[in-house]
Amino acid sequence: MADWSAKNPFMTTVSQNFVLNGEGSKKETRHIVFELKNSGLEYKAGDALGVIPRCPPELVEELLISTNFSGDEEVETHLGTCSLREALTDRFEIHRVSKKWIEGLANRVPQDSGQVKMSITSRQRFSSKDGAVLLDWSGTGNDGDFPEGYVEVGPVGEGYVNLISELTSDPKAMEDYIWSRDYLDSISDFGGIGFTPQQLVEGMDRLKPRLYSIASSPDFERGTVHLTVAIVRYNHHDRDRAGLCTGYMADECETGTTEVGVFMSPTRSFVLPDDGSTDAIMVGPGTGIAPFRAFLQQREIDGAKGRNWLFFGDWTEEGEYLYRDEMENWKESGLITRHDLAWSRQGSEKVYVQHLMKNSGEEIWNWIENGAYFYVCGDKQYMAKDVHSTLIGICSEYGGMSQDEAKEFVETGLMKTEKRYLRDVY
Ligand SMILES: Cc1cc2nc3c(=O)[nH]c(=O)nc-3n(C[C@H](O)[C@H](O)[C@H](O)COP(=O)(O)OP(=O)(O)OC[C@H]3O[C@@H](n4cnc5c(N)ncnc54)[C@H](O)[C@@H]3O)c2cc1C
Ligand SMILES: NC(=O)c1ccc[n+]([C@@H]2O[C@H](COP(=O)([O-])OP(=O)(O)OC[C@H]3O[C@@H](n4cnc5c(N)ncnc54)[C@H](OP(=O)(O)O)[C@@H]3O)[C@@H](O)[C@H]2O)c1
Repeated sequence: MADWSAKNPFMTTVSQNFVLNGEGSKKETRHIVFELKNSGLEYKAGDALGVIPRCPPELVEELLISTNFSGDEEVETHLGTCSLREALTDRFEIHRVSKKWIEGLANRVPQDSGQVKMSITSRQRFSSKDGAVLLDWSGTGNDGDFPEGYVEVGPVGEGYVNLISELTSDPKAMEDYIWSRDYLDSISDFGGIGFTPQQLVEGMDRLKPRLYSIASSPDFERGTVHLTVAIVRYNHHDRDRAGLCTGYMADECETGTTEVGVFMSPTRSFVLPDDGSTDAIMVGPGTGIAPFRAFLQQREIDGAKGRNWLFFGDWTEEGEYLYRDEMENWKESGLITRHDLAWSRQGSEKVYVQHLMKNSGEEIWNWIENGAYFYVCGDKQYMAKDVHSTLIGICSEYGGMSQDEAKEFVETGLMKTEKRYLRDVY
């Protein structure tokens, strides 16, 4: 396997990038296909792909404008010296302000707060994306003479001093503040303190890769890696914002042209049974479907004889039945033996995958007794926990065990000893 890694990613392009949701859906779940080209990268069903995001170019430009830097200034970073523009694009996460950065400000609040005055002189800014003019302004920067949409960030009295002391003394206030703000917001709050380019990047979070469960089998979809990605979008303080990596893939990655850094993150545990005749129960609501599409493709191409039981769920059948045609075809061909679909926002009551598991508890127990593997993928915080306790309940009810015995059976027996209860949750 080629030596590509998070620090040395393979640069490739996306060949498909489309929304999987039906018309009118309020979700944006994308199918994104990366080309493996001549990378030598290999993977198996169950592995994850690492993607290196880049910060949105418009946000970088806006931040440079608001700090009055050109972007060519040199800064020191954990990866060595580079231009401020490169640091803000590729080395730090600028879409969410960090606690450390705010705490760093607390040490620099001038005693004579409110005396630092920033000035703006004649400036032009162009979009690095399409060359469009973002700002073409020449003014004095005095007495409110600022470009439209910009505010004087200098003498704001003691407002920022009070805000910093509130944030650094009240953890809840700090969490609330950083949850909804990026550095553009914070410069507007704290720009009056004054920054050198180095001080601007000091304390920012380092840019990290994101992992995505691979939604394809390498034997079925040769030369490519498929992902199922839920795009994170939200609006705070009247500005639309996006998750760093999902926003990057959805908004910045043009098919066939944009170079994206990727690497493999192999799994040791989340794998198909060696014996193709073993049954598999797969629980994967939302983007949790990803590795099960990969497993099903692999079992089809292997001609594996084991039965496959898929639990999938999302908001509505019309809007969020991901990979509907493929799943329906597999049901028809018999590859999917049982298919249970839980629509949580379709009827008057929430239906979740674990509710459907409960309805078929006895049969699930029979499959497990018969040696089936039990897989879960998707949301870790709520879904995986509820599915876990439902599974314990089923083993207790139909396996004739007390609740404690069933817990031991699931958590020690199935998970640790036999390694056939496997989870890929995030
Ligand atoms: C092993 C593994 C496999 C994964 N597989 C998949 C997969 O198959 N598909 C998939 O889509 N994801 C998957 N993920 C999640 C993925 O890695 C990313 O975490 C996810 O895509 C978000 O990344 P982002 O950079 O877009 O968001 P980030 O910029 O990292 O932001 C996400 C954060 O935004 C915050 N946030 C959310 N809403 C708001 C809001 N309204 N206001 C403020 N903040 C908000 C949340 O706290 C969240 O932590 C997987 C993760 C792991 C660890
Ligand atoms: N921290 C959170 O609040 C949270 C929760 C879930 C997902 N996420 C993240 O949001 C992104 C998008 O997720 P996604 O599109 O893959 O789908 P998802 O948000 O995980 O939702 C998929 C389905 O699971 C349902 N669901 C919600 N709570 C559940 C529970 N306790 N048990 C079983 N099912 C439950 C959802 O229903 P309803 O939405 O109608 O309740 C929906 O029908 C992912 O990155 C995921 O990690 C975050």
